[in-house]
Amino acid sequence: DQGRLWGGRFAGGPSEAMFALSKSTQFDWRLALHDIAGSRAHAKALRAAGLLDDEQAAAMDEGLAELARRVSAGEFVAADSDEDVHGALERGLKEVVGPELGGRLRAGRSRNDQIATLIRSYLREEIRLIAQDVDGVIDALAGQAERHVGVVMPGRTHLQSAQPILLSHHLLAHAWPLVRDIERLRDLDRRLALSPYGSAALAGTSLGLDPQLVARELGFDMSVPNSIDGTAARDLIAEAAYVLAQIGVDLSRLAEDVILWCTAEFGFATLDDAWSTGSSIMPQKKNPDVAELARGKAGRLIGNLAGLLATLKGLPLAYNRDLQEDKEPIFDGIDQLHVLLPAVAGMVGTLTFHPERMAQVAPRGFSLATDVADHLVRTRVPFAVAHEVAGETVRYCEERGITLQDLTAEDLPRISPHLDAGVLEVLTVEGSVAARDGRGGTAPVRVREQAAELRAAQRQLGAF
Ligand code: ARG
Repeated sequence: DQGRLWGGRFAGGPSEAMFALSKSTQFDWRLALHDIAGSRAHAKALRAAGLLDDEQAAAMDEGLAELARRVSAGEFVAADSDEDVHGALERGLKEVVGPELGGRLRAGRSRNDQIATLIRSYLREEIRLIAQDVDGVIDALAGQAERHVGVVMPGRTHLQSAQPILLSHHLLAHAWPLVRDIERLRDLDRRLALSPYGSAALAGTSLGLDPQLVARELGFDMSVPNSIDGTAARDLIAEAAYVLAQIGVDLSRLAEDVILWCTAEFGFATLDDAWSTGSSIMPQKKNPDVAELARGKAGRLIGNLAGLLATLKGLPLAYNRDLQEDKEPIFDGIDQLHVLLPAVAGMVGTLTFHPERMAQVAPRGFSLATDVADHLVRTRVPFAVAHEVAGETVRYCEERGITLQDLTAEDLPRISPHLDAGVLEVLTVEGSVAARDGRGGTAPVRVREQAAELRAAQRQLGAF
């Protein structure tokens, strides 16, 4: 029967081009072990419903275990004539237990509920691994933050000098979105924990099979409440694609900072040799390829999500073959992050920072102007006036080609009667940073607290 799961009502086989279009073993084979696990659970449901006797059930279970062994060892693989992973494995089962017993397994199930279950099992396994790899990037960021508390750098908005900040504060700002990504994966796992097995083609199973039994056997919390939804829904796959894309975007924003920091113009950081590449023509080059690939792959991950949503839009219930198109984008997203995340962790963890350079640049662009205004507010000047005076102070300096820190007591009355000598004391980068000591602020005491909070969040998320 060439491993085909249908044929009785057809006078002939599919045309070559039809078969080539339909075939999915080249990508769905990675679900083979999940399919066999589903089959073992299904065989137990058949046994419980009296559709397999004890002897048959035992032989079936042993046969499926042997098939799993052969698949793991690469001894059994999909053949060119196999349409999909399900057909290939039924062919394999028949090879192991014979066509009579092998032909009994498919009762009461459909490839529609099978595939909907397998993709969930697969994703539940993979997102745990992705979460661990994301945690590795968080570790790298937190480790660098902990090693550099006290190091100042220019903080930017609109990429323009804004206010001085701590390097650790900035690094931790890249870690928190990744913490939320792990939370997203954990939340998604709760929704993935319902098994569609037993939904059959769409209307549910008629042979007294217990979907809850199969769900429990496969480690799901329970079976789905609606068989149509169980076979037709792919929102959870799209949600997974979204979280993968969001991780990509979060890495990409981090990557862009690293790329800027490692330019000669910034000079804030140097990449480790092991995490950069050279140029075939320019001997001096040290390129941030890891960061650039992170930025590039984010686009690809967004494309996977957009493509999947476009596939789902307008599909009538229940199963449609279009749904087969969910696999490659989600598999690609998983594969890309498996190679990307460890590389980003390595790149971040081995960056060498240049504190002198960052300290030198931190006060540039009049980044202490807010501190002038805040000082005036502390002396009870209304903020609107303080803002004006601080602006005039910047203009005064700009016209004379000096920085705010160059101001002396003689300059102050020439700028504004509101300015007292106390302002000169707040005009340091260290003072500016230390002053922002509200919760979540960049003061060293708060950043130390924040690093501990991040570590606690990591522990609390742990393995899910
Ligand atoms: N390969 C299909 C998929 O990935 C599952 C098989 C359902 N095929 C069918 N003709 N009903 O969605």
